[in-house]
Amino acid sequence: MLSVLRLLITITFASNIALACEGECVVNVTKYILSNYSTPIYNIFREIAEEIENLVVPPSSRAADRLDYITPLLSSYEGNSYSRMETAIFPSYFHGKCEDPTTGIAPSGCPNPSCSVVCGTPGSMVYHFPKLRRIAFDSVRAMLLENTREGSDTYNSVHKTVMRFTGTRATSNMTTRSIPRIFWARKDLDLLPEFEDMYLMKRADDVGAKLKPILESIPDRLATACGYVGPDEDGSTDELQECSWKTGTVEYILRFP
Ligand SMILES: *[C@@H]1O[C@H](CO)[C@@H](O)[C@H](O)[C@H]1NC(C)=O
Ligand SMILES: *[C@@H]1O[C@H](CO)[C@@H](O)[C@H](O)[C@H]1NC(C)=O
Ligand SMILES: *[C@@H]1O[C@H](CO)[C@@H](O)[C@H](O)[C@H]1NC(C)=O
Repeated sequence: MLSVLRLLITITFASNIALACEGECVVNVTKYILSNYSTPIYNIFREIAEEIENLVVPPSSRAADRLDYITPLLSSYEGNSYSRMETAIFPSYFHGKCEDPTTGIAPSGCPNPSCSVVCGTPGSMVYHFPKLRRIAFDSVRAMLLENTREGSDTYNSVHKTVMRFTGTRATSNMTTRSIPRIFWARKDLDLLPEFEDMYLMKRADDVGAKLKPILESIPDRLATACGYVGPDEDGSTDELQECSWKTGTVEYILRFP
């Protein structure tokens, strides 16, 4: 009797706690995947920061660190990527028991080390690795799409931030270059205040026009960097080879019972 009880306790303990990706497994696996994504993401962020600098920031007012131009984008990515990724992988896709609800039987390999049923265990994530990889990519890409869409809060904040670097008072050089031709004749006059407002608005439009295609290209740059093949290849084995990191990820996932 005692041993049956002990067995029951062991089984209950095992199926509730040990044999599912929960708690530390969820947190650590999410962080592991995001950590691998940080390489392509920061390569792209540095690339676009450099392009922004070259296109719109005059040499006299450049940032010490180029990433400063896109601080709002970095903050938004750093602030939101964890919860987005965790939600996308776990409750949204890998969750629940592996056993067939009617027969109570799980296929062999379940819950570990490689389980053909979609359920909330490390083995299921390993068997369905291409899907896991795709979910991770979609989550990162969706975040970038939202943050680089014209008119979004992050997009607007990046525009403002870049303007802070370009919006320094017109130097004598800049006035000669940027004031419309009809005003050249009046170089003896200082900029009229109304004109200055107009000038700054025009400048914001100019910067905006150059910024837009750069920011909007970010999601596609990630797709290219990762080897994304397109929506039709959803979860196929040969897509996203550059953002797969399969060996390390599988090994890491299987550290969790
Ligand atoms: C999960 O991550 C924490 C913090 O980094 C670490 O201390 C812990 O050992 C990790 N767990 C496993 C099983 O790797
Ligand atoms: C993936 O992330 C883990 C955890 O930070 C790290 O140990 C590993 O080297 C990374 N792999 C690659 C290929 O960047
Ligand atoms: C004007 O431009 C020249 C060269 O581009 C630069 O050396 C100079 O410092 C500029 N003058 C001002 C007032 O910015």
